[in-house]
Amino acid sequence: MVYRKIFLTAMLALSLFGVPHAIDADDGFEHQIPLGLPKMRVPKDNPLTGAKVELGKQLYFDPRLSRDNTVSCASCHDPEKGWSNGERFATGIRGQVGGRSSPTIINSGYQYFQFWDGRAKHVEGQALGPIQNPIEMDLTLEELVEKLNKIEGYRKAFEEVFGTPVTSDGIAKAIGAFERTVLSGNAPYDQFKQGKEDALSDAARRGMDLFFGKAHCSACHGPPHFTDGGFHNIGVGIENDEPDVGRFAESGLGGDRGSFKTPTLREIEKTAPYMHDGSLATLEDVVEYYDRGGTPNPQLAEDIFPLNLTDQEKADLVTFMKEGLSSPDYPAIKAPELPE
Ligand code: HEC
Ligand code: HEC
Repeated sequence: MVYRKIFLTAMLALSLFGVPHAIDADDGFEHQIPLGLPKMRVPKDNPLTGAKVELGKQLYFDPRLSRDNTVSCASCHDPEKGWSNGERFATGIRGQVGGRSSPTIINSGYQYFQFWDGRAKHVEGQALGPIQNPIEMDLTLEELVEKLNKIEGYRKAFEEVFGTPVTSDGIAKAIGAFERTVLSGNAPYDQFKQGKEDALSDAARRGMDLFFGKAHCSACHGPPHFTDGGFHNIGVGIENDEPDVGRFAESGLGGDRGSFKTPTLREIEKTAPYMHDGSLATLEDVVEYYDRGGTPNPQLAEDIFPLNLTDQEKADLVTFMKEGLSSPDYPAIKAPELPE
């Protein structure tokens, strides 16, 4: 009897903490959390349900969320391009090009700060930004709500999920819920950490030791997310005539000038080019950049300094990032059928 109780308690504890998925939602939707990622905190006012995630997926892939029906979230955060866009900058409506590179949205459901400068909080707080941005999707919220309310499929889905017609609040929540399911974990690094010795090649293991040691990368890109969620100045673009001030625009703190949010390195092989301005084309270029000690400037982070890596060490570091942080379960989500 006693043993049975202990056994059941242990099973319960395991199901809550140990196994790589958790049931969060009230309609039995299972939020699949891959190996190596922690349980995600989901806002109380936006619980995940299967119907909501499905609705969010449709909205995410729907170009009708832009004024001329040409641009969707997926245009700039494309599952086939690491959920980024493969280009230096992002191209929005009427071919307009913005000044910053499009980050991946993989694992962004874990992030408090959104955008390179952290000007939005949580994925739900971010989603309406690009829709209203005149060079991205260019619709006012009134126009958007009116437009989507004319599409019967959306009207029905919003009734089902939120008990209301289409609202901008519902749009943000549904898209946020979908983004919370776009996850990458169970990478060779995670498997290695679980004890699977042969998950990483010798070169990747050497690269991992450098990443956490001599090359000092983990000071800002530590696991499980390979970002600290914070802002740092590593000097990218600082030599320009009018450098992007980054986090400073939000915080107004002098020390934040030229600081940008540390990006995740999961699936990093797929999201070239790199940095907030897309100025580094390859991971080899990135490692060369850090090896030089970044670009000197008064706000340069203390953790950035010349590394004196050998050619072999540089190559190993790149191998660790490419091989160790690319998941065999990459979230290759296809565009769904859109409602009429
Ligand atoms: C025209 C291209 C474009 C479109 C369309 C677009 N985005 Fe973005 N997205 C960007 C760029 C560029 C940034 C970074 C901007 C910045 O930091 O100032 C960004 C940032 C983000 C971030 C923050 C990620 C992070 O790590 O900080 C999220 C999340 C996101 N977009 C989701 C969306 C969603 C959802 C949509 C659709 C409603 C969308 N985006 C539409 C280009 C685009
Ligand atoms: C002081 C904190 C810090 C340290 C240390 C650091 N990084 Fe970064 N990393 C950042 C920040 C901040 C950015 C974004 C900078 C920007 O866009 O201007 C970044 C960007 C990157 C990018 C580009 C990601 C993308 O999506 O564009 C890669 C790759 C990268 N770092 C790898 C590394 C490697 C490898 C090391 C060790 C050699 C390292 N980082 C050390 C903070 C750091």
